[in-house]
Amino acid sequence: MLSYRHGFHAGNHADVLKHATLQFIHKAVIATDPRPILVVDTHAGAGLYDLKSEMGEKVGEWRQGILPLLPKAAEAPALLRDWLEMVHLDGPRAYAGSPEISRRLLRAHDRLLCFELHSTDFAALSTLLCTDPRIAVVKADGLAGLPAVFPPPERHALVLIDPSYEIKTDYGQVQDTLLKAWRRLSTGTYLLWYPVIDRGFTERMLGGLRNSEIGRQYRIEFCIEPDEARRGMTGSGLLVINPPDSLPDAMAEALPWLAREFNASGQVRAEWVKP
Ligand SMILES: C[S@@+](CC[C@H](N)C(=O)[O-])C[C@H]1O[C@@H](n2cnc3c(N)ncnc32)[C@H](O)[C@@H]1O
Repeated sequence: MLSYRHGFHAGNHADVLKHATLQFIHKAVIATDPRPILVVDTHAGAGLYDLKSEMGEKVGEWRQGILPLLPKAAEAPALLRDWLEMVHLDGPRAYAGSPEISRRLLRAHDRLLCFELHSTDFAALSTLLCTDPRIAVVKADGLAGLPAVFPPPERHALVLIDPSYEIKTDYGQVQDTLLKAWRRLSTGTYLLWYPVIDRGFTERMLGGLRNSEIGRQYRIEFCIEPDEARRGMTGSGLLVINPPDSLPDAMAEALPWLAREFNASGQVRAEWVKP
């Protein structure tokens, strides 16, 4: 039984890092390669969030996340600017989640495949995207579903793996899924999101991937507070496999800016794990 609902957390500091980076990478990948691409979102969520709804205001993380950044879009580093401008234009009542960000970047010949298991979020996402013939939304396990559709006929893919890590076994399953998918399409670009809640679980998963045959691994981490500051999520990160060439320079500019804006006192880094 799934209890995690992204609507309680949408627009928080982890979403800022993930959504801005996803948009930047998607744009960079299609700018350098005209071939049709399959975008896969293994844990898609509801797609669009009303941050001012009862759900969004219950924890209200967006008020310390995206909200203070909105008036600063024009002065933000390139990696964040476009995305912040889009969020500013949409307003807090229609905050775009990962599948909606991807949808906006699809070209006529691209496809988007979304997996979502929660009945309510699956229904909302289907309603949002089902009229677009380039998009499929399925109520199925994304960790089993991703390798099952790989390699795609396009032989060109961008994958977001963004689990809720509700159960500890998710960490091991994510590692297996990513390895299986990569073995079927080693040229794909993969973004794996992870929370910094329990450092041991995170490092075991990332260590397993580092010691695997997967090459070109780039790691980004943004922690608002040191790990030991309190219980709960003190930060988050992304492991990017086969990042676009422009990502390291863009990150080197974006992360210090974000760290200043959020007054971050935890680990903030972006580095090659395996160049
Ligand atoms: C962190 S949220 C996704 C947020 C979304 N990617 C975004 O950035 O807008 C994780 C989602 O995965 C769903 N989920 C959990 N386990 C899943 C699984 N095995 N397969 C597909 N969806 C799953 C949850 O219901 C939840 O909506």
